[in-house]
Amino acid sequence: MLATEQNERITRVSLGTPMGDLLARYWHPVATTGELHDNPVKPVKLLGVPLTLFQDRQGKLGLIEQRCAHRRVDLKWGIPAENGLRCAYHGWTYDSTGQCIDTPSEPDSSTFAAKVKLDSYPVEELGGLIWAYLGPLPAPLVPRWHPLVVEGAFRHVAVSTIPCNWLQCMENSVDPIHAEHLHGYLWEYVIERHGYTLPGTLDQVQRMTRKHIKTACEPYEHGIIKRRLLEGGSEDSLDWQHGHPLVFPNSVTLGGPGLYQIEVRVPIDDTTTWSIIYQAYVPGHGVPVPEQPFIPTFDAPLSDVPDYIGAQDMVIWRDQEEIMDRSRERLGDSDRGLILYRRMLEDQMKVVEDGGEPINVFRDPAQNDNLGHDAWDYGPIQDHTPGAVYLRTSGPHSPVLPILEDLMVQGAAAAKLGR
Ligand code: FES
Ligand SMILES: [Fe+2]
Repeated sequence: MLATEQNERITRVSLGTPMGDLLARYWHPVATTGELHDNPVKPVKLLGVPLTLFQDRQGKLGLIEQRCAHRRVDLKWGIPAENGLRCAYHGWTYDSTGQCIDTPSEPDSSTFAAKVKLDSYPVEELGGLIWAYLGPLPAPLVPRWHPLVVEGAFRHVAVSTIPCNWLQCMENSVDPIHAEHLHGYLWEYVIERHGYTLPGTLDQVQRMTRKHIKTACEPYEHGIIKRRLLEGGSEDSLDWQHGHPLVFPNSVTLGGPGLYQIEVRVPIDDTTTWSIIYQAYVPGHGVPVPEQPFIPTFDAPLSDVPDYIGAQDMVIWRDQEEIMDRSRERLGDSDRGLILYRRMLEDQMKVVEDGGEPINVFRDPAQNDNLGHDAWDYGPIQDHTPGAVYLRTSGPHSPVLPILEDLMVQGAAAAKLGR
């Protein structure tokens, strides 16, 4: 349970608030290359700041204010230009630094454009995601977490806009027990009521209901490792040995044989979170992987029939209230991970308030290579079970599920043959 003031302090994300200023020290995904392939202009919001993301005709990214300096028109209607974004209303054009470089209806002799500049923010592509940074300059490096940079992978990403505060999404990542109930018993009940809407078997779903014999949450260099020991399992299991690390401040890592997954909960504003489930599948063993000029991106819906793991989590977070009132919660012994995470958030807010640099901010390229590699060992590809990609992803919604399943089956077969 938290006092109302403490709850405000760790949930509010606007710039200038303690949590907003901590989160601003990190790069956040605001789009994917797949989305920009479909439309090179995207209105985005991050930490309460409305912005316009664009890619000009030369492929250069820009992240500038939402509105044109001339008549405050929304630049989401902008037209990509050779070297910037051209406002749809009267053609004023801004480059990626926000500098106005053309005011076509002003006299030829006018120097007006040079005096007009919108705010702009650092923006970079890594791993098919477009990352933005709103914190103090100079910006740190975009962290090269393992799934973003692992070679020989075929990737896709599920995105969802959830109308609730970011923290209830993240607290889920230090709550091992929920898997047994939400992804086990509720899923079983959804099948009982609605039948099968997904490929899969009741046996696979019932495996999720195995009882947690023991759980643990421990700090590690990048955040918190969450461990679980399930009925019939042993302490040698990957679930216990490796667990599912929370990557501070707003990501969690998961995986399976040949699968490297990172989930990011992007704080759009106090009551909106953009959820990203990013998966890199690596068949290995000489299996050819198709080239991906951009990352396939699809909406994972918050379905009224929560028939896949992502929807089960999202509807629960959404319906905990827009901003959960933690002054009215009753925490038990199994909620130790939440307390540890909240303490870590408090500690790191304090670091920033005292003028320091929080954890997981990287400035040395030598330290920013394949980060967290060890945390993503979820067993050899030969342990892949057919159909697992359907259960592990955001249901039937990905356009590339058959490709992924095929790659993993090929990888498992090649591994068994010792290739
Ligand atoms: S409002 Fe943008 S150019 Fe006039
Ligand atoms: Fe979950």
